[in-house]
Formats: sequence, C-alpha cells, structure tokens
Amino acid sequence: MKISIINGPNLNLLGKREPEVYGNLTFEEYFTTLQIKFPAIEFTYFQSNIEGELIDKIQELGFSFDGIILNAAAYTHTSIGIGDAVKAITTPVIEVHISNTFSRESFRHQSYISGNAKGVILGFGLKSYELAVQSFL
Ligand code: DQA
Repeated sequence: MKISIINGPNLNLLGKREPEVYGNLTFEEYFTTLQIKFPAIEFTYFQSNIEGELIDKIQELGFSFDGIILNAAAYTHTSIGIGDAVKAITTPVIEVHISNTFSRESFRHQSYISGNAKGVILGFGLKSYELAVQSFL
C-alpha cells in the first residue's frame, strides 16, 4: 500500500515552531517512527511552503497512490485551488491537523479541504497522522 503524507506551509519548522501548540519533534523524526510502526506501508513524504507545489504533488500522486494524508496547514483555510485538487483526484485524502483548529481562532474553523476529503482527523498532535494511516488499513 502506497501512502503519501503532504505537509503545507511552516510545517518544515515543526520542533521549533510554537512547541506549546505543535510539540517538540521535527516531522522527520516523527516520520521515522511512523515508518517503523507500519513496515508494510510504502510511505512518501513531501512538504512545501508553496501553494502551487502542493497542488502539483496532489495531482502527481492522486491517480496512483492508495491514500494521501494532507495537512495543508494555513492553506486549509484559504486555498480553493488545493480544495479543487483534492476533489479532482481519485486517491482518497484524509485531512489532518496537529492542533484542534476548532478550539483556536475563528479563521481556522473554515476548511476548503474537508468537503472533498474522505475524512478529517485533528487535535491529536502528531498522532493525528498515525490515526489517519490506520483509517486506510
Ligand atoms: C495546522 C493548523 C492550521 O490552522 C495552521 O495554519 C497550521 C497547522 C495544524 O496542523 O494544526 O499551520 O494545520
């Protein structure tokens, strides 16, 4: 089974960025533990701060992968383009967020992804990604 994790803007700063919200681990550290936990899954990981690169990656993988786990970060709340890309592909997408976006500022309550995603998992810290992987098993 081929699953891709796609992370959006500022998630390259995990470990340094607002650790009280996002924790102390870098995504690379967490990704290693995820690969060990699910040895049968072929994972790929992509991160970009650029909206169009995220759309390109969703299009590239979205007709051949078994699943995409997408944390579009701030673009979740602004990007009709990423929402449309998720709608356009055949690979099921799980939207994830590290924090509980509904317990934060009201601008984080809007998502252009959710309506086109298979499901949404948020608020469990980095464990949100792991729960998303389990949803594909
Ligand atoms: C986030 C939540 C977003 O509102 C925020 O812009 C992020 C990270 C999360 O994983 O909790 O960058 O997607």
